Parts: sequence; C-alpha cells; structure tokens
Amino acid sequence: IPEYFELEGGDRMPRIGFGTWQASDDVLEKAVEAALEAGYRHFDTARAYENEAALGRALNRWIAGDPARRKQLFVVTKLPPGGNRPELVQEYFDASLRDLNLDYLDLYLMHTPFAFEHVPGDLHPKNADGTMKVDHSTNLLEVWKALLKLKESGRVRHVGVSNVSAEQLARVAALARPACLQVELHALCQQPALVAAAQRLAVPLVAYSPLGSKALADALAAKTGREYPDLLQLPAVQRIAQAHARAPAQVLLRHALQRGLAAIPKSTNPTRIKQNISLWDFTLSEAEMSELAALDRGEAGRICDFAFFPGIEKHPEFP
Ligand code: A2P
Repeated sequence: IPEYFELEGGDRMPRIGFGTWQASDDVLEKAVEAALEAGYRHFDTARAYENEAALGRALNRWIAGDPARRKQLFVVTKLPPGGNRPELVQEYFDASLRDLNLDYLDLYLMHTPFAFEHVPGDLHPKNADGTMKVDHSTNLLEVWKALLKLKESGRVRHVGVSNVSAEQLARVAALARPACLQVELHALCQQPALVAAAQRLAVPLVAYSPLGSKALADALAAKTGREYPDLLQLPAVQRIAQAHARAPAQVLLRHALQRGLAAIPKSTNPTRIKQNISLWDFTLSEAEMSELAALDRGEAGRICDFAFFPGIEKHPEFP
C-alpha cells in the first residue's frame, strides 16, 4: 500500500504523520527531533494546541534554512474554533505561520464545524458557569470559502476540514473538494459511513487518536463514569500483534492504513515513535481485518465527544 496520498499539484501527504496534541513544549521539541530522525515528514498541530512555536523551533532546526528540506516536510495546522468567521481566517492563519516560523503551510484545516466566540487571547472562552462560549452565528460554507481564498495567496498549498459529519463534508465538497478530512478514528470508533462518504468524494481521510488517546479516554471516563478500554490491551489486538511479532500499536495503525486511511499517532517516546512509522513490512490478513472491524462500538467508542461540552450541541453546525 502507498506511503503517501497524492494531492493536487503532485504534492504528497505521508500517510503516517506525527500528532502533537497535549505535549509540553520541551517534551514536544525532543519528540519532534526523534520523529524526524525516525523518518516522519508529516507533522500535525493546531492553533488551539498552543504549541506551534515549539513545533516550529524543532522543524526549523532540521530545515536549517535549506528550502529543499522544507519541501520534504508536510506541515499541518488548524483554524481554531474562536477564529471560525470568514473575516478572522487571515488573521489566525498569519498568527500560525508566524509562530511556526515558516514561509508557507502544506495544509490548513478548519478545526471544527462549530465556532467559539472570538475572544482575543483566549482560544477556549468559557462562560461563568463553565460552559463554552459558543458562537451560533458562524456559517460553515462562508468560512470554507475564506479558506479557499487563503489558498490563492500561495502561503498554504492545501485546505481541508476536520471534525465534520458526512453531511457537512458533502456540503463543503459541493463548493470545492477538501484536500483532507481529519476525524477521530480508531478500532473502537471506526466511522464506516464517514469513511465511505470521504472515499466516494475522493477526500483523503486522516485518523486522529488512532491509538485511542489513553489520557483523554481516562479523563472522559473519570468525568462520565463510562468505562473506556485501552485499545492496546484489547485481546484481539494483542493476539494479532503476537501472530505478527509486532506491537499492538502497529496492528492498530496498520488496520487504518489497510482501510485506505492516513493516521497521526502521537508519542513522546523514541522507541514508540519509531514503532509507529515501521508499518510497511507486514500485512494483516482479511480474517484479521474482519476481527478488527468487529471491535467497532460506533458512537459509544468516541473519545473526543464535542457534545460533552454544554452549548456546542446546540450549535446549528453541530452534527
Ligand atoms: P507515549 O507518548 O508515552 O508513547 P493517540 O495517538 O491515539 O493520541 O495515542 C497517544 C497515546 O498512545 C500516548 O499516551 C502515547 O504514549 C501512547 N502510545 C503512542 N505510541 C505507542 C506505542 N507504539 N505503544 C504504546 N503506546 C503508545
């Protein structure tokens, strides 16, 4: 199976990227160095992660001023929900590019189909009662048009969307096909209908939390009382890993690749960072793929559940 998605203009998006959510700056810089060493060239961040400067420092050390090296990288960041208004897109994009300290981005994504109120200096604005300050006036298609316009500037090669439903994807694709759809996707939340919709529209799909984001799952379990299993400990995953003499994480990532997806696993450990990109020399059988498909729990398997944030679920663009 191919190691890249071919994008418009002959650009290539590596199908294994490096996720950077929830890592402190120092840890992240070291992890990115280890990832570059291990052969990662696709790096995923977001304005909302507040780590663009740290990622930029590590990437720029590797680029060392050589444009040929910059070209080898595929750098992705995202418009924060607080910037989900057409007139704010340019400002937030410029801020990301400045913090990353890059001349251009490879891919810029609309992070969410809903918006937060624009509060300068606060990317996660909350009301006094702890609910998110949701902006109900935002218009998905108008923001998408602003992203498309951004592409004309030449400072971003591709634009796409994240966390949208199949219905929303179809709506934006009717204007212009997104270069990428990034959503939560892993063995317990396999999203078969959304995968089929993206494939029908020829939109490359990138899976986030492909290993089940243990820390986030634990936090959600603690809040909701809902028990959430560790994907890496699932008996089927363990059994298949043993049969191939591979790590459970490699089985989960290979499962995503063989479904035709890209994935952006996150690790801060050099050995696991290397493991997560060493996926090209074994193949899961059809029987194993079926066994993994059977682990899907649908919506109950979702970890990054936006409906969990009061207010967001009432937004007109919330799926
Ligand atoms: P660590 O950073 O200590 O390796 P996701 O990409 O789904 O968000 O999952 C990230 C979590 O999975 C992190 O807690 C990370 O911990 C862990 N992880 C990443 N790669 C592996 C691996 N190959 N084996 C076991 N755990 C892993």
